[in-house]
Amino acid sequence: MTVEMLNALEGFEISFHSKSKRIVDIKIKDEIIDKLIFPFHKFDIAALEYKPFTRFTLAKSLDDLTKNKFGNYINSILKNRNTGCFILRTNNKNNKINDEFLVKLSTAISHLIGTPNHDSMSGKYYARFFVKHEDSSDSYLRKAYMNMDLHTDGTYVNEKTDWLIMSKLEEKNVKGGETTVLHLDDWEHLEELFKDPTGRQNFTWGSPKSKNVDYKVEHPVFNEDLNGKPQISYIDQFPEPKNMDQGNFLQKLSDALEESKNKIITELPVGSAIIANNHFWLHGRRPFKENKNLSRELLRIRGKFTDSV
Ligand SMILES: [Fe+2]
Repeated sequence: MTVEMLNALEGFEISFHSKSKRIVDIKIKDEIIDKLIFPFHKFDIAALEYKPFTRFTLAKSLDDLTKNKFGNYINSILKNRNTGCFILRTNNKNNKINDEFLVKLSTAISHLIGTPNHDSMSGKYYARFFVKHEDSSDSYLRKAYMNMDLHTDGTYVNEKTDWLIMSKLEEKNVKGGETTVLHLDDWEHLEELFKDPTGRQNFTWGSPKSKNVDYKVEHPVFNEDLNGKPQISYIDQFPEPKNMDQGNFLQKLSDALEESKNKIITELPVGSAIIANNHFWLHGRRPFKENKNLSRELLRIRGKFTDSV
């Protein structure tokens, strides 16, 4: 992809992320936002939740504004092994953009890529959740002062998780809590760990109560895509090692990921979203600086590509 190609889309400002050419940075200009206000008003959030076809209507209204180029473009970013990730930015001084608008925009994006998986935590096709000073939950997701280690999503569910969207809806009194991401091909230890036969064994993956998933799944940490390239499905908290060999492998993997010098640390402004291929990008979060009034609201959608196999 050349920069000229990137800028062929009117109403968008497109460049590579300042820290990595693997991440495309897409800024939606206010002229596009203005044109979305009317079609987005057609449905309220309840309609989107209850009638799945309305979500495709939103997606179409976004794609139509770009003569159907935008959908193709973001699909090509996500499916290209060399990129696989983009950040979508809106003008956060534009007061027409509120949380409801961002839910709709994320919905539109997700339906240009494919279909969302059911999110058991919320019981919907998306989940909104807060990270705050105090937390009594049972996973790292909402523990503000702990590092959320690099991982992929959907490790403990039956459905395939090809991609994920994380949108930032609101933030107050936040310092720290930066997003960390790592592309598998940039990882210093990929070859060593990918070759290890333990990584190809089936592991058992469970999940804590808050996730509302009452079954366990079995799958290896590493597998290959159609071109033989490594793919990973891993999170530190949910595999249940069956023996010393699996336990030691997971410890080695965890250490090798966390010590990587090639992870990208980036701050995501309110009104922005990061969208990544979940098979070869890992994501995490740095700890927040302590503040009793800390509050961050996020939205996540995970799903399959339209042509997922
Ligand atoms: Fe995650």
